[in-house]
Amino acid sequence: MTSKSPNSSLCLLFTSLLICVLSAPILFAQNPVANYDEKAVPAFQLPDPLILGSGDAVLDTATWWSLRRPEIMEMFENEMFGKTPDMKLPVSFELTSLDKNALGGIATRKEITVYFTADKSGPSMVILLYLPNHVESKVPVFLAMNFNGNHTIHPDSGVSITRSWLEVNRESLSNGSKTVADSRGSASRRWPVEMILQRGYGLATIYYEDIDPDFDDGFQNGIHPLFYKSGQTSPNSNEWGSIGAWAWGYSRAMDYLETDGDIDSRRVILMGHSRLGKAALWAGAQDQRFSVVISNNSGCGGAALSKRAYGETIGRINRVFPHWFCDNFLKYGENEGSLTFDQHMLLSLIAPRPLYVASAEEDLWADPQGEFLSALHASPVYKLLGTDGLQAEARPLPGLPVMSTIGYHIRKGKHDVTDFDWECYLNFADMHFGK
Ligand code: GCU
Repeated sequence: MTSKSPNSSLCLLFTSLLICVLSAPILFAQNPVANYDEKAVPAFQLPDPLILGSGDAVLDTATWWSLRRPEIMEMFENEMFGKTPDMKLPVSFELTSLDKNALGGIATRKEITVYFTADKSGPSMVILLYLPNHVESKVPVFLAMNFNGNHTIHPDSGVSITRSWLEVNRESLSNGSKTVADSRGSASRRWPVEMILQRGYGLATIYYEDIDPDFDDGFQNGIHPLFYKSGQTSPNSNEWGSIGAWAWGYSRAMDYLETDGDIDSRRVILMGHSRLGKAALWAGAQDQRFSVVISNNSGCGGAALSKRAYGETIGRINRVFPHWFCDNFLKYGENEGSLTFDQHMLLSLIAPRPLYVASAEEDLWADPQGEFLSALHASPVYKLLGTDGLQAEARPLPGLPVMSTIGYHIRKGKHDVTDFDWECYLNFADMHFGK
């Protein structure tokens, strides 16, 4: 065995230091530090949702619907979320469990399996539905996907354990649960089921990875392969990523809700938190059957303006979650200035339907100010379409929601979904449904 001479060790140390110093700028360019300083937000001009690509102003609703809205939709399809295929799958629904006396008798619980292939062998999703027993008429429903399995939203032992993808996603099981079954009820803090029912609303939820697993699998699992053209093995650079797939799943859930006689399908409120808030906004933009859309702390790629480059940026989100958006979105990393659209235009696609954007004071990663400004700058479209938009010029204080056709609040605390958030959403829905 030979030992290194002191000289060769020194030389090694020197070389390592040199490599570190030389590669630092490269590493920094790849992983720039997030900006949390309002003064360091770059100067930018937001594209006007009411100016056509030709430069002409949109002065009436007909021009909005026939020209400008399709233009904006196309930008989000081609440059950000990727286009959702037009092809229809042979989707079918099966009621796989029913308990009319759930949660001590206050609720009817249904589980509906939604099959995406005719022979039922391919991917499928399970909708868990709670309906309030004290309401005689058809009920409005909140539709919101969950992160860790339907069985985590409530300790209710009648809920089936979610099967798909939880094994690969084991580290995300909350509360240190050792097995999937141990995680029953582990996310219940975020799901005040009894409160929602008591207010006369139903709740429909789906485990999001039933539709597409949330890791970069080259789009070999989940629903993408069901849409590939002959010889295709992954989406093209302007075709959908995972957020597009989850948004598609929200619409397939809506297809079911329309068939359920216990539900008022004209009053389905789409709600999503964080990455599922991004998906909810994209689903709400594409599918006008959702009557109210709620973004809870959706941040970068959701409600927050990208051009502010505050907190999470396009470059960072694409590096860490390369499967969320289409490949065309890569070119905007560290290059937000070149965007011809921004997230206020995504919100404007929901107009004139009621929209709620919620932020949290400590959730700087999601850029609360950028989320507020986005709602504010979607307002001109809401106004053109005859509603009042957002009734605030400046961000309200924490805990004080503003609610008109657009609602907004920032609450104290972290990135999360709290009872306060849900109370605001229930009040907002009541206000719009004249309850
Ligand atoms: C990460 C990601 C966010 C996302 C969030 C979530 O923090 O950077 O963009 O919203 O996860 O979905 O919880």
